[in-house]
Amino acid sequence: MTGKRYKPIAITDSFYQLGTPSFPAYLSLGEKAMIIEGGTGATTSIILDQIKELGIEPERITYLVLTHTHADHIGAVPRLKKLWPHLKIAAHPLAIKLLKNERTVKEFIENDKSIIQIMLSKGEIQSYPPELDHYEFHVDDAIEEGDKLDLGRGIVWTVYNTPGHSSCHISLFEEQEKTLVIGDATGFYVPEKDVFWPNYFESLEAYCKSIRKLATLPAHRAALSHNGVIEGNVEEFFHKAMKTAEHYHYEMIARLEKGEDPADIAVDKANWVNSLTDIQTFEVMRKLAKVLISRSHSEAGKENMFSIPRMISCR
Ligand SMILES: [Fe+2]
Repeated sequence: MTGKRYKPIAITDSFYQLGTPSFPAYLSLGEKAMIIEGGTGATTSIILDQIKELGIEPERITYLVLTHTHADHIGAVPRLKKLWPHLKIAAHPLAIKLLKNERTVKEFIENDKSIIQIMLSKGEIQSYPPELDHYEFHVDDAIEEGDKLDLGRGIVWTVYNTPGHSSCHISLFEEQEKTLVIGDATGFYVPEKDVFWPNYFESLEAYCKSIRKLATLPAHRAALSHNGVIEGNVEEFFHKAMKTAEHYHYEMIARLEKGEDPADIAVDKANWVNSLTDIQTFEVMRKLAKVLISRSHSEAGKENMFSIPRMISCR
């Protein structure tokens, strides 16, 4: 039973946005269908209702692809897999390793529960999703750079490794409609405010390299793992993502050099992030802000990280 009504959004004839604006998942339709993003425990029932509304037979949904394994991107996996055992979960090989780590999975489940509480308090869902006896995050297929997922009817997704946000992060590009699914590779973007929170949790250098790689693809739209789809000027979007990563990094370095306490910087940044979004608790944002400070600190002095060429060709 869901609270607010979230309708599936047709982005193209064969590409739909499901879930909620804060936690979208995407449905790609060829002869076979594929869900991209592992959702959250709280959005599972919303996704199921939307698939039903679209009249898609669950048997047609062959794959569920994980862009990465952060808690807010895998929560629907055990529930969907239980309902649809035929579903093949596909993710980067490093994701497979991460999801075998019991402690990590326990932390993911705790975080997923806090997202459920937030969504309940906002009236986005009306009841707590049923608990499972066992949370299974088994990945069936390892996919990485260059692999293709052919759904038929010309819909073929190519996988790109895009680490930096997380080591296991992948993005996917579909050539026919020129749709690029970028997950969290460009950080947390709030379209209404045109503001980015750069999220180079694993490596700033890898994060910038991934943005550079994605910017070379002739995409007509970029589907984000939070807050929906950017239509049109995708190139400009990548330039802005890079610029804001650069500014954020140098702000962290400057504040550390002035002798500011990293704990105070983290609180300040978490307050700022909380003014942009309420999808996670303040405590989660504070911890993440702290990770960014330590990444900036350890990667200070690296040069030419932020360069990004302008594409000359028409898209
Ligand atoms: Fe993430």
